[in-house]
Amino acid sequence: RPLVVAIDGPSGSGKSSVSKEVARRLRLAYLDTGAMYRAVAWDCLEQGLDLADGAAVEAAARGLDLELSTSPDVERVLVRGPHGMTDVTAAIREPRISAAVSAVATNLGVRDELIRRQRAIVAAHGRRMVVEGRDITTVVARDAEVRILLTASEEARLRRRGAQLGGTQSAEQLHEQVVARDAKDSTVASFTQAADGVFTVDSSDLDFDQTIDAVLGVVHA
Ligand code: CDP
Repeated sequence: RPLVVAIDGPSGSGKSSVSKEVARRLRLAYLDTGAMYRAVAWDCLEQGLDLADGAAVEAAARGLDLELSTSPDVERVLVRGPHGMTDVTAAIREPRISAAVSAVATNLGVRDELIRRQRAIVAAHGRRMVVEGRDITTVVARDAEVRILLTASEEARLRRRGAQLGGTQSAEQLHEQVVARDAKDSTVASFTQAADGVFTVDSSDLDFDQTIDAVLGVVHA
């Protein structure tokens, strides 16, 4: 039977690692929608597009040949470029992409295209999937069996993202990547407050295992 677990949250909330582990525990497929926005941003930069040129950015998204792993155990994102398929798994996590991605994600044509693809991916998996992002509970899978907003205090999110990047970033860079990006993102998707029927899990004072238990508790409620 169908079981779509929709998980939204801001950066540094632990969304990706939590979503993957929940998918493993429940034996569900996994979709990282943020990776799709990042892949579009990568492609735009690769093509040297002006990110302010909305029509060009939308056309890039619509034409993008994108392949992405839906296994929680395999992280792999491939994009077709002029020289064949390129593995962009690592490249899309670079700070230059994090800095560019909001400009791409606020493009409504890009969103329309990626939302359509995301819904098709969920359908192709028999609606048995954990889907994580910013607008999954409210737009992409409003009809999900389980809808969760994973939040954490700004302090906890900065700490986690800093650790994730191996302490290589200055406080200023981290602030730009976490707080400033969320402020930009909030213009297209409201993930700071749970919509009707969406459960909030606040992970500020929970460790990883406790967060998993809290999410599974909502699933089994
Ligand atoms: O770095 P973080 O894990 O917070 O973000 P991500 O999940 O990799 O998503 C990267 C960016 O894609 C976000 O900052 C949003 O601009 C955009 N995004 C979106 O607009 N809608 C989604 N469903 C997922 C991501």
